Amino acid sequence: MTEQNLKVFSDDVALINSVIENLGYLKCTSDRSNSVIAAEKYGLCAGGKRIRPVLCLEFYKLFGGKEDISEIAACLELIHTFSLIHDDMPEMDNDSMRRGKPSVHAAYGADIALLAGDGLSLLPFEIISANALAGKISCETAVKLTSYLSCASGNMGMIMGQMLDIISEGQDVDIEFLKEMSAKKTGCLLMASAAFGAILAGAEQCDVKRAEEYAANLGMSFQIVDDILDVIGTESELGKPIGSDKIRNKNTFADVLGIDKAYELAQRYTESAVAQIKDLNGSQLLCELASDLVKRRM
Ligand code: IPE
Ligand code: IPE
Ligand code: MG
Ligand code: MG
Ligand code: MG
Repeated sequence: MTEQNLKVFSDDVALINSVIENLGYLKCTSDRSNSVIAAEKYGLCAGGKRIRPVLCLEFYKLFGGKEDISEIAACLELIHTFSLIHDDMPEMDNDSMRRGKPSVHAAYGADIALLAGDGLSLLPFEIISANALAGKISCETAVKLTSYLSCASGNMGMIMGQMLDIISEGQDVDIEFLKEMSAKKTGCLLMASAAFGAILAGAEQCDVKRAEEYAANLGMSFQIVDDILDVIGTESELGKPIGSDKIRNKNTFADVLGIDKAYELAQRYTESAVAQIKDLNGSQLLCELASDLVKRRM
């Protein structure tokens, strides 16, 4: 990424981190009755690349948005963190490290982790509604966002993808199955993130579509690289255990295609992502972001 775009990206991440750290909804004391909120904050503030809220902020700017929508952008990170907390639990992937720290269930116990994930899955809907009631966004926009987010993360979206992941452990699957699974478990929320930015900016339907197509392709590439890093990454860079997919007999792109072919496929999806938006004025950061994410080590 150019130095200038890297600065914009880091400023976006800093903004989101500050919104998350200061969210009034997550104010807690050290009291036992607040342990769910403490666990939510722990999972949220452990780190993370913040790609989803950044996509929201950058698509918002790309389509001419000028207001501060950071609290709504942060909602995408709340849903993502909920998915990670549950994903790491013993009943799912059984990973005890996340973002360089013990996973939420390892730090707080499975009961509290379950509730923390539940809490983070609902909070975005409270936040978006509150933004509408306070007149910061229109009620129509709020309905569009809540409808989008619930579909993208729900039974036909991320949750469906997670189910496909779990039920196919140890089974033989083809590449088409892997694509569907990844589109759902990872692509749907990335699409929502990009679409949120476009919808909040009042973009034309065709531009919302472009944002979605960019993110759908980015999502495929993102999950392929995630699968590859589970094989060739390091725990210190990733902040989560490597080799976890093999232990659980997961079907991954790395496994089905081999590392080299998987990388080639990730590269092709990245090119398709970039092709959706590269002719738009001001899309350079989003194009560079897609290209950099294929080369990531974390
Ligand atoms: C990990 O997501 C889970 C996948 C969808 C592959 P990220 O790689 O975005 O995780 P964080 O947010 O940076 O920790
Ligand atoms: C998780 O995919 C996707 C989610 C919806 C959380 P993975 O199970 O591959 O994510 P990691 O590798 O644990 O981060
Ligand atoms: Mg998983
Ligand atoms: Mg996992
Ligand atoms: Mg993974």
